Amino acid sequence: MRHSPRLIAIAALCLAALPALADKLRLPATPNAAWQEECTSCHLGYPPSLLTAANWRQMMGSLDRHFGANARLDPGTRDQILVFLEQNASTKETRQSPSLRISETPWFRHEHDEVPARAWSDPAVKSAANCGACHRGAAKGNYDEHDVVLPVAARR
Ligand code: HEC
Ligand code: HEC
Repeated sequence: MRHSPRLIAIAALCLAALPALADKLRLPATPNAAWQEECTSCHLGYPPSLLTAANWRQMMGSLDRHFGANARLDPGTRDQILVFLEQNASTKETRQSPSLRISETPWFRHEHDEVPARAWSDPAVKSAANCGACHRGAAKGNYDEHDVVLPVAARR
């Protein structure tokens, strides 16, 4: 069967769009159960693809000193979560964090360079790590730009 040039053109367009789609931020389709249990209780579950494997290894090796909190786990659970994080980590240099904070990666700064300073200090936000204050679907891993709201005070 011969394919029409038009169909081929459409197929090519779809293929070209694939990397962009793959780049959309999502939680893995089947998050690890231990991660779900242990890493979404104090804050929302941060998508593993927002840091590098090296970052996650370092974080999982210092859970007793976790951004001022003690998030210590038994070694078995910790190792299981680390495998999940490593498998879904980013390989991009722009997602390597010097401080282990996602909010301090070059990628994050770039994506948010148009967010006004007063939005970050708004009482409803408090911390850049509080993704859900602006991204209404963050807990479900949805960071679509069409689903972002700035806190009221910052919109003025
Ligand atoms: C006992 C509470 C607690 C648990 C459990 C916990 N965290 Fe956290 N986590 C925190 C606190 C507190 C912060 C700092 C939040 C802030 O600055 O607003 C934080 C920050 C983070 C950040 C940095 C966010 C940013 O960009 O600033 C990451 C990534 C993170 N946690 C991952 C994890 C992972 C992975 C686990 C599971 C192994 C986990 N956390 C379990 C309390 C916890
Ligand atoms: C103070 C509000 C605010 C907070 C807090 C915030 N963001 Fe954003 N974010 C925005 C705005 C505004 C944009 C720009 C939307 C646009 O491109 O029009 C954005 C863009 C993004 C994008 C790009 C979306 C796209 O479709 O291009 C991602 C991904 C993202 N943020 C992730 C995060 C993560 C992860 C966190 C928490 C660690 C976070 N954001 C915290 C306001 C916020």
